[in-house]
Amino acid sequence: MTQDPAAEVPEFPMARRCPFDPPSEYAKLRETEPVSRAQLPDGTPAWLLTRYADARAVLAHPTVSADITKPGFPPLIPIQKDIVKQGHKPPFMRQDPPEHTVYRRMLIPEFTVRRMKVLRPAIEQIVDDQLDHLLAQDRPADLVAHLALPVPSLVICRTLGVPYADHEFFQDKTGILLSFDSTPEQVAKAMTEIRAFLGDLISEKQRTPDDDLVSSLVHNHLEKGEVTRENLLATILLLLNAGHETTANMISLGTLALLENPEQLAALRADPELVGPAVEEMLRYLSIGDIVPARIATEDMEVGGTTIKAGEGLIALLGAANWDTGVFPSPETFDIHRGARHHIAFGYGVHQCVGQNLARLELEILFRKLVSRVPTLRLAAPVEDLPYKRQGAVYGLHALPVDW
Ligand code: HEM
Repeated sequence: MTQDPAAEVPEFPMARRCPFDPPSEYAKLRETEPVSRAQLPDGTPAWLLTRYADARAVLAHPTVSADITKPGFPPLIPIQKDIVKQGHKPPFMRQDPPEHTVYRRMLIPEFTVRRMKVLRPAIEQIVDDQLDHLLAQDRPADLVAHLALPVPSLVICRTLGVPYADHEFFQDKTGILLSFDSTPEQVAKAMTEIRAFLGDLISEKQRTPDDDLVSSLVHNHLEKGEVTRENLLATILLLLNAGHETTANMISLGTLALLENPEQLAALRADPELVGPAVEEMLRYLSIGDIVPARIATEDMEVGGTTIKAGEGLIALLGAANWDTGVFPSPETFDIHRGARHHIAFGYGVHQCVGQNLARLELEILFRKLVSRVPTLRLAAPVEDLPYKRQGAVYGLHALPVDW
């Protein structure tokens, strides 16, 4: 079944109903037209998938490609188009097997649950120090600036093996990359400086290896000629970008979800062992990477009774899939007891988030400590006035004023 080409095509991305719900159009589409046409800001058409089963089927489909250089690929953020125009090789996240598989094989052993366990004491220390720092601020204080952004930054520093003396430089530059207020010139300058910094870090780890991710990648892959220096640098940069803002947004919005659902917060405080299920429910409920999994069909295929032609773009809407009433009853209810682990907030298929074990560990440690150490935490501004990140590929908060 194909659609009537004369029918009106809605614009995409659709507006999110803050603070938590995905766009209201998703539920209507899932009911009436679960595989439907939309148009991106640059005019590129794409199919939107709003059912959990269809999203998973497409993301796991062998003839569906994540290669942004393919003509017709739906570009969600302008930088994706620039990469293609400038003839740069896209990061492995936007490549297909077999190239993509080389990087997955390289990274998966670095992010196993076992490897993450080794990081636990260091992450606990980082979270405790950062909570001390937040609590030392004048009240009300911004939880984004003093907790949500610095924690992932310090954790990434520790994971990669950035020396402590360079933390400030590193945080300063990544702060510029992630800030809404930075000018394009500031971003370009910070990017050049970070690339130079990572180049030096790779050389340093070649000379003096340590027990960290960059040393491991240098020793196991660069020195064996399995990856070029440039591709290793691009991969480290991707880890940095993919892991930083996402986790920061989950910390700030997850805190807000708990504060806005006091009975759930009380349940978590009463039984800290619920923190794992609570984090899974936050991931499902917030689905901050809703529009990230863009793809293109390389062969004609059928999805939920609709024919998708080779060369047509697809977007598996994670927020829609994770709010599919057939899979998650009453999805608008934030319920830490629901058992949400089968959500697809980390994507699905070969591109499923490589850093998910690290993200889970960070979030579990952070929420366990936040709930126990700051029992009087409360919002210091009306929830409807908060500065939500309405633009961009990942949903989040620019600031979260809190008191205690
Ligand atoms: C991929 C979400 C944290 C590194 C993805 C994808 C999603 C996602 C939805 C799949 C994109 C697609 O299919 O096109 C998240 C969320 C996070 C998080 C919600 C925080 C809660 C992290 C962290 C790291 C990381 C901490 C690394 C340290 C990556 C990488 C990919 C990826 C490298 C690409 C994987 C591939 O293409 O094979 N993430 N992520 N992410 N993520 Fe995450």
